[in-house]
Amino acid sequence: MSLAVCPGSFDPVTLGHVDVVRRAAGMFDEVVVAVAHNSAKSPLLTADVRMRLVRDAVAGIPGVRVVATDGLLADFLRQVGAVAVVKGLRGAADVDAEVAMALMNRHLSGVETVFVAGDSALAHIASSLVKDVARHGGPIDDLVPAGVGDAVRAALRARVDAAPVTEAGPEGSGR
Ligand code: PNS
Repeated sequence: MSLAVCPGSFDPVTLGHVDVVRRAAGMFDEVVVAVAHNSAKSPLLTADVRMRLVRDAVAGIPGVRVVATDGLLADFLRQVGAVAVVKGLRGAADVDAEVAMALMNRHLSGVETVFVAGDSALAHIASSLVKDVARHGGPIDDLVPAGVGDAVRAALRARVDAAPVTEAGPEGSGR
């Protein structure tokens, strides 16, 4: 029984993530999608919302389950008995950061990372770009699984509503 982990912050989950999970599910008996915390990022969506959206997005892929983890990925890999981490590469820009994480995870846990090339038609999709497009009122629904666009827009609205109002208006809107 081979088990692989697809980790990420999934803020939000995109069609690119789902493509990678589907490819991982084709290579391993079981895939655990680990919704983790990236300490370099301040997420827009809460962990609960990210979990729900990832669960809905991969619900139709056999052999896949979704688990939240807020600790070290290396510890999680040992806990679930993973034989591999599976990550997608969209292009050269992903390589440096992904290889650094792969080496660290192997150093800490002995678990190898397998890189898969995702669908080239999805190579422009990144969670950070999805949020930026949405922040500026652009269309994101064809970049993300069903329901994700509404969640992102709701979270952005909540953030604007919660922003302190200065003389310049909310978040320096210039009003
Ligand atoms: O989708 P992301 O933000 O690129 O995913 C990065 C993530 C969450 C997989 C990475 O930050 C992570 O593994 N976080 C858990 C804490 C950890 O193990 N950090 C050391 C990574 S080598």
